[in-house]
Amino acid sequence: MTYSKIAGTGSYTPDRILTNRDLEKFVDTDDAWIRSRTGIQQRHVRAEGETTSDLALVASRRALEAAGLTTADVDLIVVATTTPDMVFPSTACLLQAKLGVKDGAAFDVQAVCTGFVYALSVADKFIRSGSARCALVVGAETFTNLLDWNDRNTCVLFGDGAGAVVLQAAREPGIYSTHLHSDGRYADLLSVPGTVSGGKASGSPTVKMDGGAVFKFAVKVLDQVCREALEANGLAISDVDWLVPHQANIRIIESTGHKLGIDPARVVVTVDRHGNTSAASIPLALDLAVRDGRIRHGQRVLLAGVGGGFTWGSALIGM
Ligand code: UT7
Repeated sequence: MTYSKIAGTGSYTPDRILTNRDLEKFVDTDDAWIRSRTGIQQRHVRAEGETTSDLALVASRRALEAAGLTTADVDLIVVATTTPDMVFPSTACLLQAKLGVKDGAAFDVQAVCTGFVYALSVADKFIRSGSARCALVVGAETFTNLLDWNDRNTCVLFGDGAGAVVLQAAREPGIYSTHLHSDGRYADLLSVPGTVSGGKASGSPTVKMDGGAVFKFAVKVLDQVCREALEANGLAISDVDWLVPHQANIRIIESTGHKLGIDPARVVVTVDRHGNTSAASIPLALDLAVRDGRIRHGQRVLLAGVGGGFTWGSALIGM
């Protein structure tokens, strides 16, 4: 039996930091509101000309280095992103060229903030089936491209960044399970309802969100999908060393942790530093906790995401 296992993690955030105080200068908001309602203190914003594949490139190189592998070992690249460099080719193909990988499959997965969990699940299935041996799985976003900087309901929430893992074939898990869900009936609650047609952008190219409805839905399904993962593996929450949830709002994270009954000290939180980086948020948080020594070899980690679509999902992994 072949399983997949994380061999290395990496991440990258652009140098430019936008604090809540910086936002106060051009939008009707204040630091105290943003901190108390979301837990966000700052977010990173891409440099002029910096694209999603640029962010993904640095995170990928760091993940390969941590794994002790080279680009020659990679035979699959899956990039989760909502903010591709262009309509096509996929960001995964652009990343493939920048890395100098010349063969194997490369494609994007679009599941907004659940994108990384979806991408990990897909790559896990490629490896389990023998279709790939070494996958680069990336969540990367230049999400600030989608913001209306005059809309205080949304522009204070998001940021840019990338996280990556190298997933390798292994004799033992690795990834114990993934559970994916979606329900398109909720599409209107969180969307960028624009597209390219007739040679120009049509519709609206910025984020529209019913924050309250998204909040309630997120707390409900994150708890459900974590329980689903535990049940499928015959485990209790006390058997999990770390919860790495999607980083959208500290109150969503705390409510989910409370419902699950996990010690808050075992929940990885980065939303204060990164804001919501959509598909990048989970692998970014995972990499930070690996690099600062909290997440260690042999531990069990539960990843859980929720986002536009709606989509939601979890992955239970052994490091
Ligand atoms: O990855 C999934 C993506 N999205 C999410 O997960 C977001 C989920 N939702 C949330 O995080 C929260 O619903 C928000 C942070 C978006 C909003 O928090 P809330 O506690 O639900 O606030 P609210 O929408 O009930 O708004 C309360 C007040 C309103 O004023 P009034 O109508 O009560 O006078 C808003 O206009 O806060 C006002 N407000 C702001 N004030 C200062 C909304 N945004 C801001 C702001 N600064 N940036």
